[in-house]
Formats: sequence, structure tokens, C-alpha cells
Amino acid sequence: MRTSLAVILAAGEGKRMRSAKPKVLHEIGRLPMIGHVLRAVETAGIDHIAVVVGPADEAVTNAIAGQAPKASIHVQRERRGTADAVLAARDVLRRPVDDILVIFGDTPFISSAAIACLRDKLANGAAVAVGGMRPENPHGYGRLIERNGSLIAIREDRDASEAERSIGFVNGGVMGLSGAVALDILDTIGNSNDQGEFYLTDAVRIAHDRGLETAAVEIPSRDVFGINDRAQLAEAERQFQTRRRTEAMRDGATLIDPETVFFSHDTALGRDVVVEPNVVFGPGVAIADGVTIRAFSHIEGAHIEAGALIGPFARLRPGAEIGGEAHIGNFVEIKQAAIGPGAKINHLSYVGDATVGAKANIGAGTITCNYDGFLKSRTEIGERAFIGSNSSLVAPVRIGDDAYIGSGSVISRDVAAGALALERGQQVEKPGWVERFRTRMAARKRPARLG
Ligand code: UD1
Ligand code: CA
Repeated sequence: MRTSLAVILAAGEGKRMRSAKPKVLHEIGRLPMIGHVLRAVETAGIDHIAVVVGPADEAVTNAIAGQAPKASIHVQRERRGTADAVLAARDVLRRPVDDILVIFGDTPFISSAAIACLRDKLANGAAVAVGGMRPENPHGYGRLIERNGSLIAIREDRDASEAERSIGFVNGGVMGLSGAVALDILDTIGNSNDQGEFYLTDAVRIAHDRGLETAAVEIPSRDVFGINDRAQLAEAERQFQTRRRTEAMRDGATLIDPETVFFSHDTALGRDVVVEPNVVFGPGVAIADGVTIRAFSHIEGAHIEAGALIGPFARLRPGAEIGGEAHIGNFVEIKQAAIGPGAKINHLSYVGDATVGAKANIGAGTITCNYDGFLKSRTEIGERAFIGSNSSLVAPVRIGDDAYIGSGSVISRDVAAGALALERGQQVEKPGWVERFRTRMAARKRPARLG
């Protein structure tokens, strides 16, 4: 087994994003770009991950620690080019390792297959292996200069001659370096180029000059789509969504109008799930088999058991646990609440910090009053309980199994199992009142006769 190290470069300022947020924290499918890269590297089975960040990138450091706690973090004090950035991880580069992979933090679609390809080249004797691609427009990329079938240099766009610029095979930005020579080569790289930066790409020329083997492998250009500005961020999101929709359908979900359904990186759908048009899945959603999500629903941090019916116009917020065959209808918001199997909350309700028992029926306009401006409290509703329409349940409060709540009640004390509770004014009825009222009012309105 060859040992491996990945160095992910994330110290760029991302100026073209025009953002207060570091570029690599911008999200695709609700996961930061850097998260996508970390995931690919982990899937590729790399032994150690080193990430190079800028001097004040605390938020980036936290995001990395959250997802890949074993990754080491290295600070590049000054932005002096990609080779200089790799050298910020000198501590780990010094340790003996077979394969070193350098990956850019702003190429979120890097695949574990591309990484494996580069490692293959290293295993077969290459000192430097470059992931090349043939994009529609090679402008801005480093050109791969080959002679007699071998890679001899990479020329950055701004340093390239007219003839070199016509080359369509370019540097995708992933590189494999043999651990035996990497540090030595990196330390040899200078900065005599148009930008006065230390270019990682010079590793190719140096290795070639030393008689070491260099290689380029072609990888699909979508795997190394780089994000420098917001338009490219939107394009990456579009590509991500297209792929996820295809995967969801391949795995047995029906999307009636796929283009209008938006997934997160971790959305999990079972088989025979039907998703109607205009549905948004935030992070942390898992949906079991046979669930139908009707149009215009917004769902995040929710688990939905088999056969449930959600929407149209439902909002499930984090901590919503919906039991099998339950119905959550239009304009219903559920937050931090477990809804039992077969329960129905069909219209215009807010249920938060609550448990709702199996087969309970929550009438239209029921509100759990869970917040007093300081603290949140829980509402517990028993099995088969029936909550009449337009009721307010003032938490903390418990409604027993099979209990009935009369419509329009404000319930602030516990209700025993099987009891009826109502809280409203007495209805008053006055027979014949309307006729008397009309006569009296008509007389008042009639103008007084003169003389
Ligand atoms: C780079 C390559 C180019 C390739 C292209 C592919 C070099 C010199 N050029 O150009 O051949 O075709 O990517 O997308 O490598 N970074 C740091 N510290 C630095 C400089 C950069 O961490 O001092 C990081 C950036 O955050 C980014 C990555 O390195 O993630 C690439 O830097 P960038 O300036 O975007 O390089 P390109 O000009 O795109
Ligand atoms: Ca770039």
C-alpha cells in the first residue's frame, strides 16, 4: 500500500467574489466548496490531509475542523503563489510519504477517480503527474507543453507565446508529486515570471530537466471546474443540481419537473418518493420510501418516514420527525417536533418543540405557543388526541391520549387522557332580536318632520 498526502490550497483571497466571506466557504448544494474537496479526498482514501489557509481565515479553519478533524491546517502568511502555498505545509512534506496530491480549494467537483488516476501515474514511476483537460475555452489556464509525447513544462497563460496559447490541453489544477523528490523540487522553484509569483506549475520543467519522468493524464473538465466569481458559483450550483436530480431519478424517485427541485449535498430519498414541482431541500433531509412531497414545500433538517404526505406549501424545519403515513398539509410549519405515525396536521398550523402521538388530529389553525420571549417549552399531545381548530396550546402543556380540545380554546393546563377540555366564552342567543333591532334603528334614521 502506497502512503499518501493531500495538500489542499485555500489561501487565495477570492477577490473576484467581492465577498466578506472567504471564497472556499461559499456553498454548492449547501456545502462549502472546501467541504466538497475534503469529501473527494476522503473518498479517495488519502492518509493525511493538509489544508493551506490565509492568515486570518478562522472561519475556514473552523469549517475544516468540523468536517475533517484530523486534517492539519497550515497558514500561508503572504500570498506568493501556488508553490509557496504548498510549502506552507513544509512540516508534513518533510515526513516520508509515497504520493503527494496538490488540489485547489476552489475546484469543488474534483473526483476521487481523478485523484486515483494521478496516483496510478506516480505508482508507475512519474515524479510529477498533472491532471490535464481540454476546456471549450482554454483562456486563462496554464498550457501543457509536450515534446515527443512527454510533458516538459506548463506555461501560464500570461507568460505563454502566441504559439503556446493555441494549445488546447491545459492544467486542470490537480497535481501528483512523488514524495521522494517533492520538497526538493518545490524548494527549487523561483519566481521569475510575469507576476513574480512562485508557480507550482514550474515543478514540471524542473523535474523534466533532472531527467525525472513527468506525465499528464486527461480528466473530464467538469471535474476541475474552477470557481473565481459569482457567475461561476451559480454555474457550479447548476451543474451540481443537474447531477443530483439525475441521481435521484436513477435511484427511484419521481421528479415531476426536475428543473424546479433543489437538493442539498446530503439529501437522501427512498424509492418511489414523488416530488412535485418547486420543492427545496435544505441540508439534513432523509426521506423513506413512498413519501409524496407536494408542490412548493421547503424542507430542511427533517426525517420523513414511509408513506407520509407532505404539502403542498409545507415547511419542515430542523428537528421535524414525521412518522409513517402522517399528513402535513398546506401552510403548516413543523420545528423540533416528532409527529407520530398516521397523525394529521392538515391546515395552517405551527407545531414546534412538540410531540404528537400516533393518529392524533390537529385541527386547522392550531398553534403551539412554545416561546415566551425567553425560553422554549414543550407541548406533548397523546395518541388519537383531537385538537379542535384555532386552538392555542400554551407550553409547557400535555394533552393526554384520546383527549378532545374544543375549537378556539387557549389551553394552558394539562388535559387528562380521554377528557374534553374547552376554554371559551358562553354562546348567548336572543330570539327575534334582529327584527326589533331593525325597527329601532330605522326609526332613528328617519328625518324628523318639520311643522
Ligand atoms: C492555476 C494554475 C494554472 C491552472 C489553473 C487551473 C498555477 C501557477 N497556475 O492558475 O496552470 O491552469 O490554476 O484552475 O498554479 N493559492 C494559494 N496561495 C497563493 C496562490 C494561490 O493558496 O499564494 C490557491 C488559491 O486559493 C487557489 C489555487 O491556489 O485555490 C489556485 O490559485 P489561482 O490564483 O486561482 O491560480 P490560477 O490563476 O487559476
Ligand atoms: Ca483559480
